[in-house]
Amino acid sequence: MSDPTAHASGATPPPGCPAHAGAVRLGGLQYQQTPAELYRALRREHGAVAPVLLDGDIPAWLVLGYSEVSYVTTHDELFARDSRRWNQWDAIPADWPLLPYVGYQPSVLFTEGLEHQRRAGVISEALEAVDQFEFGYNCRRIADELIDGFAGSGQAELMAAYAHALPMRAAVQMCGMPAHGTDTDDLVEDLRMSLDAAEGDDPVAAYGRVGQRLAALVKEKRDTPGPDVISRMLTHPAGLADEEIVQDLISIIAAAQQPTANWIGNTLRRLLTDDRFALNVSGGRLSVGQALNEVLWLETPTQNFIGRWADRDVQLGGRHIKAGDCLVLGFAAANTDPQIWPEGHVGAEGNSSHLSFSNGEHRCPYPAPQLADVMARTAVEALLERLPDVMLAVEPQELTWRPSIWMRGLTTLPVSFTPSSH
Ligand code: HEM
Repeated sequence: MSDPTAHASGATPPPGCPAHAGAVRLGGLQYQQTPAELYRALRREHGAVAPVLLDGDIPAWLVLGYSEVSYVTTHDELFARDSRRWNQWDAIPADWPLLPYVGYQPSVLFTEGLEHQRRAGVISEALEAVDQFEFGYNCRRIADELIDGFAGSGQAELMAAYAHALPMRAAVQMCGMPAHGTDTDDLVEDLRMSLDAAEGDDPVAAYGRVGQRLAALVKEKRDTPGPDVISRMLTHPAGLADEEIVQDLISIIAAAQQPTANWIGNTLRRLLTDDRFALNVSGGRLSVGQALNEVLWLETPTQNFIGRWADRDVQLGGRHIKAGDCLVLGFAAANTDPQIWPEGHVGAEGNSSHLSFSNGEHRCPYPAPQLADVMARTAVEALLERLPDVMLAVEPQELTWRPSIWMRGLTTLPVSFTPSSH
């Protein structure tokens, strides 16, 4: 594999900030339905590391190459996670739309070095103790209840009623909330509003209520621990403070819900629109697991992630990155990099070396990808089993993607099927 920090032959680094050399606006509407075209165009024009402009024309680098994303994520001494390094803070307005993702918070997401190992270690150990059979059983029960809610009507909008709802309920239950009850329902609704606001929602107020509810739950678990993630975090020898646990719980639930929901949605869309997939799955030639894996290569939920901040001046993909520059990790572009797929995605379904769960110190922590796989696999299998003649209720080209360059997911997935009672 070539050294991604070396200069590409013939490429000259742009002088100064990445806004030079034809930087492309990432936030615009132009490519939101077809980001693969954007990645192809950027790669053609700029190579593996492209200068881009975030909302408000704030400059950053989009890392598009598989080798370059791997390099950045595995060299946290060069490309670090604490966003307070950013050399653009003076230009960022107080109401900047990306602030919730980029503004430093004292959670596992932004910590580094030994402190990160401490926080991530507690999360991994708390998740490792989740019994995956029991978790799968709980996911199936949640799936069945959700399907019961719409099976009799012969139609459903699967993104809201199923793909988003299932991982949210599963994650909340895994953390130790009862499966049913007003508190659980309120928390689920507030989480939905804060992560995925619809018109008329107040995401900031909802986020505040999520924090309060989780703080109350943590206090409750201190008094009466149970066999759940929160109790295990509380009793871990690292001795995290309650506030640290609340911060990391929000990270866990948010990190679990959004990408898993879109993984389920993107897989269902393929099954419902791509004859090859549908025939293969029902014919038993391509398992649901393989179909889910192919989605991680070709339509990964976290298509771009912000990000890393350069700790010092460094070369990457022929570019001069300055200390404090922001790098966006282009997972979707990296997974489809022609350098690793010279002949198209032949055999992608049996190969799991994609970067959809990132890499290195801050990668999606073990065993979160396995838990996500249990949720997504159960969701897809339960739906196909319960509604075997499910079909798209609109033409495939009428489906629209969320207007986001960060998450790749559908706005809605309307389907119809023969009504059934349970
Ligand atoms: C049970 C479900 C999941 C849980 C509990 C979970 C948890 C987490 C946590 C706590 C982090 C922060 C890690 C850190 O900064 O040290 C993280 C990062 C991440 N997760 Fe997950 N996750 C889940 C599912 C998923 C899925 C389905 C995807 C995509 C297919 C995904 C992709 C990522 C990515 C790309 C990162 C960013 C890593 C980076 O900064 O390099 N996760 N996840």
